[in-house]
Amino acid sequence: MTAAQPIGIFDSGYGGLTVFKEIAALLPEYDFLYLGDNARTPYGTRSFETVHHYTWDAVRWLFARGCRLVVLACNTASAKALRTIQQKDLPQAYPDLRVLGVIRPVTERIGEFSRSGHVGLFATAGTVRSQSYPIEIKKFFPDLVVHAEACPLWVPLIENNELDGAGTEFFVRRHVDKLLARDPEIDAIILGCTHYPLLSALIARFLPPGIKLISQGPIVAEALVGYLHRHTEIDGSCTKGGRREFFTTDDPEDFDRLAALFYGSAVRSKKTDL
Ligand code: DGL
Repeated sequence: MTAAQPIGIFDSGYGGLTVFKEIAALLPEYDFLYLGDNARTPYGTRSFETVHHYTWDAVRWLFARGCRLVVLACNTASAKALRTIQQKDLPQAYPDLRVLGVIRPVTERIGEFSRSGHVGLFATAGTVRSQSYPIEIKKFFPDLVVHAEACPLWVPLIENNELDGAGTEFFVRRHVDKLLARDPEIDAIILGCTHYPLLSALIARFLPPGIKLISQGPIVAEALVGYLHRHTEIDGSCTKGGRREFFTTDDPEDFDRLAALFYGSAVRSKKTDL
Protein backbone atom coordinates (compact mmCIF):
# COMPACT_ATOMS: atom_id res chain seq x y z
CA MET A 1 0.00 0.00 0.00
CA THR A 2 1.23 3.51 -0.86
CA ALA A 3 2.01 5.67 2.18
CA ALA A 4 -0.04 8.71 1.14
CA GLN A 5 -3.51 8.19 -0.29
CA PRO A 6 -4.54 11.70 -1.26
CA ILE A 7 -7.78 12.75 -2.90
CA GLY A 8 -6.97 13.49 -6.55
CA ILE A 9 -8.28 16.69 -8.10
CA PHE A 10 -8.04 16.92 -11.87
CA ASP A 11 -8.60 19.73 -14.36
CA SER A 12 -7.51 20.51 -17.90
CA GLY A 13 -5.42 23.32 -16.38
CA TYR A 14 -6.10 26.04 -13.86
CA GLY A 15 -9.88 26.14 -13.51
CA GLY A 16 -10.13 23.22 -11.11
CA LEU A 17 -8.24 25.30 -8.57
CA THR A 18 -11.41 27.35 -7.94
CA VAL A 19 -13.11 24.12 -6.90
CA PHE A 20 -10.09 22.72 -5.07
CA LYS A 21 -9.84 25.92 -2.99
CA GLU A 22 -13.36 25.32 -1.62
CA ILE A 23 -12.77 21.58 -1.10
CA ALA A 24 -9.52 22.20 0.78
CA ALA A 25 -11.27 24.78 2.99
CA LEU A 26 -13.93 22.25 4.05
CA LEU A 27 -11.53 19.30 4.38
CA PRO A 28 -8.31 20.86 5.69
CA GLU A 29 -6.99 17.66 7.26
CA TYR A 30 -7.12 15.55 4.06
CA ASP A 31 -4.17 15.05 1.70
CA PHE A 32 -4.73 16.28 -1.86
CA LEU A 33 -2.95 15.89 -5.17
CA TYR A 34 -3.89 18.39 -7.90
CA LEU A 35 -3.12 17.69 -11.55
CA GLY A 36 -3.57 20.29 -14.30
CA ASP A 37 -3.15 19.09 -17.88
CA ASN A 38 -1.96 22.49 -19.09
CA ALA A 39 0.02 21.02 -21.97
CA ARG A 40 -3.18 19.77 -23.60
CA THR A 41 -5.63 22.46 -22.51
CA PRO A 42 -8.21 23.60 -23.58
CA TYR A 43 -10.52 20.60 -23.38
CA GLY A 44 -13.63 22.70 -24.05
CA THR A 45 -13.26 22.60 -27.82
CA ARG A 46 -12.28 18.91 -28.18
CA SER A 47 -14.22 15.81 -29.17
CA PHE A 48 -15.73 13.26 -26.77
CA GLU A 49 -13.02 10.73 -27.72
CA THR A 50 -10.17 13.15 -27.11
CA VAL A 51 -11.52 14.43 -23.79
CA HIS A 52 -12.09 10.85 -22.61
CA HIS A 53 -8.60 9.79 -23.70
CA TYR A 54 -6.91 12.75 -21.95
CA THR A 55 -9.04 12.47 -18.81
CA TRP A 56 -8.49 8.73 -18.44
CA ASP A 57 -4.71 9.28 -18.79
CA ALA A 58 -4.91 11.80 -15.94
CA VAL A 59 -7.11 9.60 -13.73
CA ARG A 60 -4.70 6.66 -14.11
CA TRP A 61 -1.77 8.96 -13.29
CA LEU A 62 -3.54 9.99 -10.05
CA PHE A 63 -4.43 6.37 -9.20
CA ALA A 64 -0.76 5.40 -9.70
CA ARG A 65 0.16 8.00 -7.06
CA GLY A 66 -2.09 6.53 -4.42
CA CYS A 67 -5.40 8.31 -5.01
CA ARG A 68 -8.42 6.08 -4.38
CA LEU A 69 -10.85 8.89 -5.11
CA VAL A 70 -10.51 11.43 -7.92
CA VAL A 71 -12.67 14.52 -8.47
CA LEU A 72 -12.86 15.75 -12.07
CA ALA A 73 -12.90 19.47 -11.25
CA CYS A 74 -13.53 20.27 -14.91
CA ASN A 75 -16.96 20.54 -16.47
CA THR A 76 -15.79 19.45 -19.89
CA ALA A 77 -14.19 16.27 -18.48
CA SER A 78 -17.25 15.66 -16.28
CA ALA A 79 -19.55 16.14 -19.28
CA LYS A 80 -17.61 14.16 -21.85
CA ALA A 81 -15.59 11.51 -20.00
CA LEU A 82 -17.08 10.76 -16.58
CA ARG A 83 -19.88 8.46 -17.69
CA THR A 84 -17.52 6.21 -19.71
CA ILE A 85 -15.01 6.17 -16.86
CA GLN A 86 -17.64 5.27 -14.24
CA GLN A 87 -19.55 2.76 -16.33
CA LYS A 88 -16.80 1.12 -18.39
CA ASP A 89 -13.22 1.92 -17.40
CA LEU A 90 -13.45 1.63 -13.61
CA PRO A 91 -15.39 -1.66 -13.46
CA GLN A 92 -12.87 -3.17 -15.90
CA ALA A 93 -9.61 -1.81 -14.53
CA TYR A 94 -10.11 -0.37 -11.02
CA PRO A 95 -13.36 -1.67 -9.47
CA ASP A 96 -12.48 -0.38 -5.98
CA LEU A 97 -11.52 3.17 -6.98
CA ARG A 98 -13.89 6.08 -7.51
CA VAL A 99 -14.16 9.10 -9.82
CA LEU A 100 -16.66 11.92 -9.25
CA GLY A 101 -17.52 15.00 -11.32
CA VAL A 102 -18.71 18.57 -10.80
CA ILE A 103 -21.98 18.56 -12.75
CA ARG A 104 -24.20 16.34 -10.62
CA PRO A 105 -23.71 18.19 -7.29
CA VAL A 106 -24.95 21.39 -8.92
CA THR A 107 -27.80 19.88 -10.93
CA GLU A 108 -29.26 18.04 -7.93
CA ARG A 109 -29.57 21.33 -6.02
CA ILE A 110 -30.30 23.86 -8.76
CA GLY A 111 -34.06 23.92 -7.98
CA GLU A 112 -33.25 25.57 -4.63
CA PHE A 113 -31.91 28.64 -6.40
CA SER A 114 -34.73 29.43 -8.85
CA ARG A 115 -38.23 30.73 -8.09
CA SER A 116 -39.27 31.22 -11.71
CA GLY A 117 -38.28 27.69 -12.73
CA HIS A 118 -36.09 29.14 -15.52
CA VAL A 119 -32.35 28.57 -15.25
CA GLY A 120 -29.42 29.64 -17.41
CA LEU A 121 -26.03 28.05 -17.99
CA PHE A 122 -22.74 29.58 -19.12
CA ALA A 123 -20.21 26.93 -20.17
CA THR A 124 -17.62 25.92 -22.76
CA ALA A 125 -18.83 24.91 -26.21
CA GLY A 126 -18.03 21.27 -25.40
CA THR A 127 -20.06 21.23 -22.20
CA VAL A 128 -23.02 22.92 -23.91
CA ARG A 129 -22.87 20.53 -26.86
CA SER A 130 -22.79 17.51 -24.56
CA GLN A 131 -26.23 18.51 -23.14
CA SER A 132 -25.05 17.10 -19.80
CA TYR A 133 -26.55 19.90 -17.70
CA PRO A 134 -30.10 19.82 -19.13
CA ILE A 135 -30.07 15.99 -19.08
CA GLU A 136 -28.97 15.84 -15.42
CA ILE A 137 -31.26 18.71 -14.35
CA LYS A 138 -34.28 16.94 -15.90
CA LYS A 139 -33.63 13.92 -13.63
CA PHE A 140 -33.99 16.02 -10.48
CA PHE A 141 -36.26 18.87 -11.63
CA PRO A 142 -38.26 17.69 -14.66
CA ASP A 143 -40.22 20.96 -14.97
CA LEU A 144 -37.24 23.30 -14.90
CA VAL A 145 -36.57 25.21 -18.14
CA VAL A 146 -32.83 25.36 -18.98
CA HIS A 147 -31.11 27.59 -21.55
CA ALA A 148 -27.39 27.25 -22.23
CA GLU A 149 -24.97 29.76 -23.69
CA ALA A 150 -21.50 28.73 -24.88
CA CYS A 151 -18.83 31.36 -24.12
CA PRO A 152 -15.75 30.15 -26.04
CA LEU A 153 -13.64 33.26 -25.46
CA TRP A 154 -14.03 33.49 -21.70
CA VAL A 155 -11.41 30.84 -20.86
CA PRO A 156 -8.67 32.41 -23.05
CA LEU A 157 -9.48 35.88 -21.67
CA ILE A 158 -9.21 34.62 -18.08
CA GLU A 159 -6.01 32.68 -18.83
CA ASN A 160 -4.51 35.90 -20.14
CA ASN A 161 -5.49 37.61 -16.88
CA GLU A 162 -7.92 39.86 -18.74
CA LEU A 163 -10.51 39.95 -15.98
CA ASP A 164 -11.78 43.43 -16.84
CA GLY A 165 -11.20 46.04 -19.54
CA ALA A 166 -13.19 46.86 -22.64
CA GLY A 167 -12.49 43.64 -24.58
CA THR A 168 -13.56 41.35 -21.77
CA GLU A 169 -16.59 43.52 -20.99
CA PHE A 170 -17.68 43.22 -24.59
CA PHE A 171 -17.60 39.42 -24.59
CA VAL A 172 -19.17 39.08 -21.16
CA ARG A 173 -22.01 41.46 -21.98
CA ARG A 174 -22.60 39.80 -25.32
CA HIS A 175 -23.22 36.35 -23.80
CA VAL A 176 -25.24 37.70 -20.87
CA ASP A 177 -27.50 39.59 -23.30
CA LYS A 178 -27.86 36.60 -25.62
CA LEU A 179 -28.84 34.27 -22.79
CA LEU A 180 -31.38 36.66 -21.28
CA ALA A 181 -32.85 37.55 -24.68
CA ARG A 182 -33.62 33.88 -25.15
CA ASP A 183 -35.42 33.63 -21.83
CA PRO A 184 -36.06 36.78 -19.78
CA GLU A 185 -37.56 34.69 -16.94
CA ILE A 186 -34.18 33.21 -15.99
CA ASP A 187 -33.47 34.00 -12.34
CA ALA A 188 -30.45 31.74 -11.66
CA ILE A 189 -27.41 31.13 -13.85
CA ILE A 190 -24.93 28.30 -13.37
CA LEU A 191 -21.29 29.13 -14.02
CA GLY A 192 -20.69 25.75 -15.66
CA CYS A 193 -16.98 26.16 -16.24
CA THR A 194 -14.47 26.15 -13.42
CA HIS A 195 -12.76 29.28 -14.80
CA TYR A 196 -15.86 31.46 -14.75
CA PRO A 197 -15.97 32.40 -11.03
CA LEU A 198 -13.07 34.74 -11.86
CA LEU A 199 -15.46 36.71 -14.06
CA SER A 200 -18.40 36.66 -11.65
CA ALA A 201 -18.05 40.32 -10.57
CA LEU A 202 -18.04 41.45 -14.20
CA ILE A 203 -20.92 39.15 -15.18
CA ALA A 204 -22.96 40.43 -12.22
CA ARG A 205 -22.51 44.01 -13.49
CA PHE A 206 -24.46 43.20 -16.64
CA LEU A 207 -27.23 41.20 -14.98
CA PRO A 208 -30.55 42.72 -13.95
CA PRO A 209 -31.03 42.67 -10.16
CA GLY A 210 -32.40 39.48 -8.65
CA ILE A 211 -30.55 37.00 -10.88
CA LYS A 212 -28.33 34.65 -8.88
CA LEU A 213 -24.98 33.45 -10.18
CA ILE A 214 -24.20 29.92 -9.04
CA SER A 215 -20.50 29.01 -8.63
CA GLN A 216 -19.79 25.33 -8.35
CA GLY A 217 -16.92 25.31 -5.86
CA PRO A 218 -18.85 25.56 -2.57
CA ILE A 219 -21.58 23.17 -3.80
CA VAL A 220 -19.08 20.55 -5.01
CA ALA A 221 -17.13 20.84 -1.75
CA GLU A 222 -20.28 20.25 0.36
CA ALA A 223 -21.25 17.31 -1.86
CA LEU A 224 -17.80 15.76 -1.37
CA VAL A 225 -18.09 16.06 2.41
CA GLY A 226 -21.46 14.28 2.20
CA TYR A 227 -19.99 11.60 -0.08
CA LEU A 228 -17.16 10.87 2.36
CA HIS A 229 -19.66 10.61 5.24
CA ARG A 230 -21.74 8.11 3.29
CA HIS A 231 -18.77 6.10 1.93
CA THR A 232 -16.75 5.30 5.01
CA GLU A 233 -14.65 2.73 3.14
CA ILE A 234 -13.38 5.46 0.79
CA ASP A 235 -13.07 8.01 3.59
CA GLY A 236 -11.09 5.54 5.70
CA SER A 237 -8.64 5.01 2.84
CA CYS A 238 -7.87 8.76 2.44
CA THR A 239 -4.80 9.84 4.40
CA LYS A 240 -5.16 12.96 6.51
CA GLY A 241 -1.87 14.80 6.89
CA GLY A 242 -3.03 18.15 5.46
CA ARG A 243 -0.65 17.82 2.45
CA ARG A 244 -1.31 19.63 -0.85
CA GLU A 245 0.74 18.77 -3.94
CA PHE A 246 0.35 20.37 -7.36
CA PHE A 247 1.44 18.95 -10.71
CA THR A 248 1.18 20.39 -14.20
CA THR A 249 1.92 18.81 -17.57
CA ASP A 250 3.40 22.13 -18.78
CA ASP A 251 5.84 24.65 -17.36
CA PRO A 252 5.59 24.83 -13.52
CA GLU A 253 6.75 28.45 -13.33
CA ASP A 254 4.01 29.52 -15.74
CA PHE A 255 1.53 27.41 -13.82
CA ASP A 256 2.42 28.92 -10.46
CA ARG A 257 2.16 32.48 -11.78
CA LEU A 258 -1.45 32.13 -12.86
CA ALA A 259 -2.50 29.42 -10.40
CA ALA A 260 -2.46 31.85 -7.48
CA LEU A 261 -5.22 33.84 -9.19
CA PHE A 262 -7.48 30.77 -9.24
CA TYR A 263 -6.46 29.22 -5.92
CA GLY A 264 -6.34 32.44 -3.92
CA SER A 265 -2.87 31.76 -2.48
CA ALA A 266 0.61 30.87 -3.72
CA VAL A 267 1.08 27.51 -5.45
CA ARG A 268 4.37 25.60 -6.02
CA SER A 269 3.88 22.98 -8.71
CA LYS A 270 6.03 20.26 -10.27
CA LYS A 271 6.17 19.11 -13.86
CA THR A 272 4.92 15.70 -14.92
CA ASP A 273 4.18 13.84 -18.15
CA LEU A 274 1.09 11.73 -18.59
N1 DGL B 1 -11.89 23.64 -16.89
C1 DGL B 1 -12.71 23.56 -18.09
C2 DGL B 1 -14.18 23.43 -17.70
O1 DGL B 1 -14.55 23.56 -16.57
C3 DGL B 1 -12.51 24.76 -18.97
C4 DGL B 1 -11.16 24.87 -19.61
C5 DGL B 1 -10.96 24.05 -20.86
O2 DGL B 1 -11.66 24.27 -21.87
O3 DGL B 1 -10.10 23.17 -20.82
O4 DGL B 1 -14.99 23.17 -18.55
